[in-house]
Amino acid sequence: MTFTIEQNDPQSQARTGVLTTDHGDIRTPIFMPVGTAGTVKAVHQRELETDINADIILGNTYHLYLRPGLDVMRQAGGLHGFNGWKRPILTDSGGYQVYSLSNTRKIKEEGVTFKSHIDGSKHTFSPEGVMDIQRTIGADIIMAFDECTPYPCDYAYARASMEMTHRWLDRCITRFDQTEGHYGYTQYLFPIVQGSTYPDLRRQSAEVIASKERTGNAIGGLAVGEPAEDMYKTIDIVNEILPKGKPRYLMGVGTPANILEAIALGVDMFDCVMPTRNARHGLLFTTQGIMNMRNEKWSRDFSPIDAELGGYASTFYSKAYLRHLFKAEELLAGQIASLHNLTFYLWLVRQARQHIAAGDFVSWKNEMVVRLMQRM
Ligand code: GUN
Repeated sequence: MTFTIEQNDPQSQARTGVLTTDHGDIRTPIFMPVGTAGTVKAVHQRELETDINADIILGNTYHLYLRPGLDVMRQAGGLHGFNGWKRPILTDSGGYQVYSLSNTRKIKEEGVTFKSHIDGSKHTFSPEGVMDIQRTIGADIIMAFDECTPYPCDYAYARASMEMTHRWLDRCITRFDQTEGHYGYTQYLFPIVQGSTYPDLRRQSAEVIASKERTGNAIGGLAVGEPAEDMYKTIDIVNEILPKGKPRYLMGVGTPANILEAIALGVDMFDCVMPTRNARHGLLFTTQGIMNMRNEKWSRDFSPIDAELGGYASTFYSKAYLRHLFKAEELLAGQIASLHNLTFYLWLVRQARQHIAAGDFVSWKNEMVVRLMQRM
């Protein structure tokens, strides 16, 4: 894996680059659609490749381990073989899902014991086990096992949790470096910075993570309910320490405005369920602002969903028709809205790359964060 920075923005920390993997190149800054259970919900692989043109998608260790399970994964030739996606995949380690989804969980030094949200069965995730599972799923980029602290979180808990995440990281690295991928291509392990919203903990964590000298680094534990300003301050503190020459991945973020502000602070990679989850609830991100498609005001608006964005779903279907589909609870509503929102998120990062290259990123970003977040 190589990471080549192509342009640095002179007025911010933003940069454009290319991350190479055995499954193809990732142009950064990039948004990675979330494919939790091996599918980006309501979206075909073909649409992901053509209309949305995603360079990379996500999968989740927690979900794929529970269902369909590792035997199926192995026999299919990993997640790429199973779902047919030819481009890069990243898997999250379960270090977040186990806290947000499972019914009961016990966190110990050895690992986390939890009950499946599907059938209540009991399982344990350890740093070593999670490396083995991600080897079997076969993603190009795999994540270290961590604890994502809740917000708010008292200082003593945040420090103890961060220290455990660092010890877990050493165990992840040992296991990862002793094993190989199963499917003939190389996998890379990204460690995760934690430390809640405490600047000294974040600095300490970023130093530890940087010292491991892995291919790329991630920032976790954000967008968990803290004010946006605290999130931006934390990113700034961490990015001063994480190496400039390696990709930085901000986990689970966020709104279009969050993404643009984080790009200005030097983040290269993003993922979030927001575009797909909101789409299924009728909430659209567009070049003109945010639209609630269930709103009566769209009932006779026969103009395209988003003419400026372009792309199939956003120009072929009208606002009135999409509103009707949502009101009638038709399955196609979620499909059109998901395709639209992901097309928008990938448009957003492509525009960001173009404006960084053109040298006017900051002024464009400042205009966009206002325009894109207004309610229509
Ligand atoms: N997704 C969003 N935040 C996090 C985090 O802190 N850790 C992990 N593993 N995944 C995340």
